[in-house]
Amino acid sequence: MALRTILGASLAALTIASPTPGGSKHSKSKFNWRSAKSLIAFGDSYTYVQGTLGHQNYSFIGDNFDLSFTPEELFSDRIVQNLTGTAEGGPNWVEFLTNCGVEDGLHDPRKCKIQLWNFAFAGANTVDDDDFTPLHHNYTVPFESQVDQFVSYGNPALESIKLSKRNALVAVWIGINDINDLSSLRGRNASFAPLYEQDQDYVFESVEKIYDLGYKNFLFMNLPPLDRRPGTQHVNASMVSSFNSIHAAHADAFQAKHRDATVLQFDVNSVLNNVLDNYQDYGLKNITNYCPGYNQPDILTNPEKYGCTELDTYFWYNSGHLTSRTHEIFTKELVEWLAKQC
Ligand SMILES: *[C@@H]1O[C@H](CO)[C@@H](O)[C@H](O)[C@H]1NC(C)=O
Ligand SMILES: *[C@@H]1O[C@H](CO)[C@@H](O)[C@H](O)[C@H]1NC(C)=O
Ligand SMILES: *[C@@H]1O[C@H](CO)[C@@H](O)[C@H](O)[C@H]1NC(C)=O
Ligand SMILES: *[C@@H]1O[C@H](CO)[C@@H](O)[C@H](O)[C@H]1NC(C)=O
Ligand SMILES: *[C@@H]1O[C@H](CO)[C@@H](O)[C@H](O)[C@H]1NC(C)=O
Ligand SMILES: *[C@@H]1O[C@H](CO)[C@@H](O)[C@H](O)[C@H]1NC(C)=O
Repeated sequence: MALRTILGASLAALTIASPTPGGSKHSKSKFNWRSAKSLIAFGDSYTYVQGTLGHQNYSFIGDNFDLSFTPEELFSDRIVQNLTGTAEGGPNWVEFLTNCGVEDGLHDPRKCKIQLWNFAFAGANTVDDDDFTPLHHNYTVPFESQVDQFVSYGNPALESIKLSKRNALVAVWIGINDINDLSSLRGRNASFAPLYEQDQDYVFESVEKIYDLGYKNFLFMNLPPLDRRPGTQHVNASMVSSFNSIHAAHADAFQAKHRDATVLQFDVNSVLNNVLDNYQDYGLKNITNYCPGYNQPDILTNPEKYGCTELDTYFWYNSGHLTSRTHEIFTKELVEWLAKQC
């Protein structure tokens, strides 16, 4: 079983590791994860971390009503780690990946060996468009605005401390809300592939803006197995697979267009499907449902009160999110995979 796990993971890595001929895997890669000094993250609730200057439960800094910040504000902001510091009930993948903000309490990103600068916003779609993917709330910062915010405020602040762009990895995990919302808004009979194409056009228009600032190293995450979520299914496996192949084609095209970029595509979908198929190997007990008391203040110490086993034995944190334990499991695979990419 252990062997199957390893095989599953390395197969997943193999299929996706070399996006283009002469792509990241075989070219004289300029980027080496072992010498990474920072992770700059964009996305939704899977990626956001709470900041002392963030919108409570949604962001590290700011919201759609106040996107601006000064360098002094950014550098006085602290990552909050506690039960409500992420949407997962504990550290999430960007915190595990950087080891920045994993312990309970407040963390200064500049004191971390790999600094974590996080502009993800919980509930984000790629774009704000009433006819495509409307905002979840009027304060929601969609991916396109996260990037504009970074262009106007984040990058100038990081330049002011001479952050090394060569040793920075830009992480983008977006689309989870998009696929759900497109399905709810368009109805299940819609023809989804053209919508996913349009969605990825939007994603990479924004990615171009980050590239234009001089960032050359990108990590893209594909959609998790949303088709295996507890509760009502908005999407099925073929929709997720279609979305992911369209996403991969756009990431490949971005790599082909920018030969000086390192474009890493992590197939988290295969890794997580493999974890679901072999969940006992990871100490998980429950992959079909979530604990109803997941957001109660005493859930970590008294799960029995809610009829649950420990939160760490669940794959799903709630109907839409993975537990912190699941983030830890896939991030371990991600770290090993990143180490092999140069
Ligand atoms: C943040 O989320 C927690 C857990 O769901 C909730 O108890 C709290 O009221 C939320 N805070 C705000 C300001 O919405
Ligand atoms: C987590 O920290 C934030 C900010 O310090 C605080 O508002 C919130 O109540 C804390 N949540 C828990 C569950 O301790
Ligand atoms: C944002 O939405 C809330 C809830 O719908 C509403 O009460 C508030 O007035 C809105 N704020 C602005 C500035 O539009
Ligand atoms: C998945 O959903 C799409 C869109 O509703 C539908 O066309 C397709 O037949 C479904 N596929 C499966 C395997 O259920
Ligand atoms: C969706 O397609 C099914 C099967 O072809 C059909 O029965 C149903 O009426 C369609 N629904 C809508 C809203 O078009
Ligand atoms: C999974 O967790 C839910 C909620 O705690 C529970 O109702 C269900 O029986 C559990 N399933 C298994 C297989 O343990």
